[in-house]
Amino acid sequence: MTDKNDLMDKIVSLCKRRGFIFPGSEIYGGLAGTWDYGPYGVALKNNVKNLWWKMFVTDRGDMYGMDAAIIMNPKAWVASGHVSGFSDPLVECEKCHHRFRADQLENKDKCQDCGGKLGGERQFNMMFKTFVGATEDASSVSYLRPETAGGMFVNFKNILDSLHPKLPFGMGQIGKAFRNEIAPRDFVFRSREFEQMEVEYFVKPSEWEKSFDAWRQVMLEWCSAIGLEKSHVHELEVPDGERAHYSKRTIDFEFDYSFGKKELYGLAYRTDFDLKSHTALSNADLSYFDEETKERFIPHVIEPSLGVDRTILAVMTDAYREEEMNGEVRTYLAFKPAIAPIKVAVFPLLKNKPELVAKAREVFQMLRKEFSCEFDDNGNIGKRYRRQDEIGTVTTCTIDFETLEDDTVTLRDRDTAKQIRVKISDLKENIKKIIDEENLFS
Ligand code: GAP
Repeated sequence: MTDKNDLMDKIVSLCKRRGFIFPGSEIYGGLAGTWDYGPYGVALKNNVKNLWWKMFVTDRGDMYGMDAAIIMNPKAWVASGHVSGFSDPLVECEKCHHRFRADQLENKDKCQDCGGKLGGERQFNMMFKTFVGATEDASSVSYLRPETAGGMFVNFKNILDSLHPKLPFGMGQIGKAFRNEIAPRDFVFRSREFEQMEVEYFVKPSEWEKSFDAWRQVMLEWCSAIGLEKSHVHELEVPDGERAHYSKRTIDFEFDYSFGKKELYGLAYRTDFDLKSHTALSNADLSYFDEETKERFIPHVIEPSLGVDRTILAVMTDAYREEEMNGEVRTYLAFKPAIAPIKVAVFPLLKNKPELVAKAREVFQMLRKEFSCEFDDNGNIGKRYRRQDEIGTVTTCTIDFETLEDDTVTLRDRDTAKQIRVKISDLKENIKKIIDEENLFS
C-alpha cells in the first residue's frame, strides 16, 4: 500500500509525531546531520544495542567489552591513517559557494543549486577537530573519533596484560563516532554524529579466512534477529581500489532502503595494519606470544562494524505496515518483540468507570516490574489501539466489566489485531510467550 518513494516521508513523520526521532536542535532551525532520539527512539536504540551486546559480546566466551574515550591522543589517528587519508572529494561552486561531494554529483561542471561553475576537486578530511585544554594551538589539536575501532586497538595491550586471553579473541564496543560529512542525507542514514557497534577480532594470520566466514554468518543471523527481511539484505564484495586503506577484504551488507540499496554494515579484514602502525608510532609492544608454538607475532584482525542509526532506519523500513481495517487505514510497526520499545500497554475499557481504572492500574503495576509497559486511558479504545500500533507495542491488555467478575483480561495481537481472553494469574506467562514469539493468537 505504501509507495517506496513516500515511505521515507511517512517514517520521518511518524518518528517525529510519535516521539522516536526529532531533528537536532530544532528550535534553532536544526543543525544539519544531527538527530535527537526521543523516548521511543532511545528505547528502541537501547534494545538494539543490548541485543547486539548479548549476541556479539556476552553470549560468546571469546569477547571482551570496552568503553574507550571518544577523544584520544591525536597520534592514534596518525597511526590509523585517518589524519592523512580519511577524506572525501569536495567541489565548491564558484558563484554560491555551496559545497558538494564530487563522487555523488551527476554533473561535475555545473552547480545543482544555482547553475554556477563548479571549481576543482580537492580532498576534505572528515574528522572533527577540537582543542584539548586551555590553549588553542597546533600542539593541543585532537579529534572526535571517526570510528570506535581506534579505542580498541590502543587497548589491545591492556587486555593482553590484564586478562591474558588466548587467540582468537575479540574486543567489542558501542559508542558515538563523528564524521564531518560533506553531504549528510537520508534522515539518520548519513549523519555527522552517529553510533557504531564494532568488534575487533584478533586471530592468527593463517586463520583470518575461517574467522571472516564465521563473522559473516553472525552478521546474517543478526539481521534476521532484528527482523530484517532476508531478501532485503545483500552482500557486496568490495573490489580492489574501493576498500578502506586498511582492508584486504571487505563485504558490505547492503539494505534495500526506500532511497535505494545502500550500505548498512561492513565486515573487513584489517590484517595487522592497525597493530603494526600503532607499534611503530607508540613504540609499545603490541605483539602476541603463542605459548604452544613459542612464536611471537602481530595478530590479524577481522572487524564486523555495524551502525546503530542505520540499523534503526532499516528496522523501521521493514517494520512499517499499512492495512485496511474497518474502512480505515491502520498503520503499525511490526517490530520483533525483542526490540520493540513497549512490550505491553494496559487500558481500562472506559476511563470514566473508576472500578475499571483501578483494576487496570493494579494490573499495570504488576506488569511494569517485568516488562516495558504503558498505561493508557486517553481517548476511546480505538484511538489507543491506533497509537500503540504506531509505536509498535507488541500486545495490549484491556480491562473490562468481565474482568471485574472473573479476573480475565483481553490480550490483543499487534500484527493481526486478533484477541484472546486470559486469566490475570496467567498474564505474565502469556506475555512472556508472546515476546518469545509463540503464536497464542492463531
Ligand atoms: N571501523 C570501520 C568503519 O568505521 P565504515 O564503513 O566507515 O567502517 C562502519 O563505518 C559503519 O558505520 C557503516 O557500515 C554504517 O553502518 C555506519 N556509518 C558510517 N558512516 C555513517 C554516517 N555518516 N552516518 C550514520 N552511520 C554511519
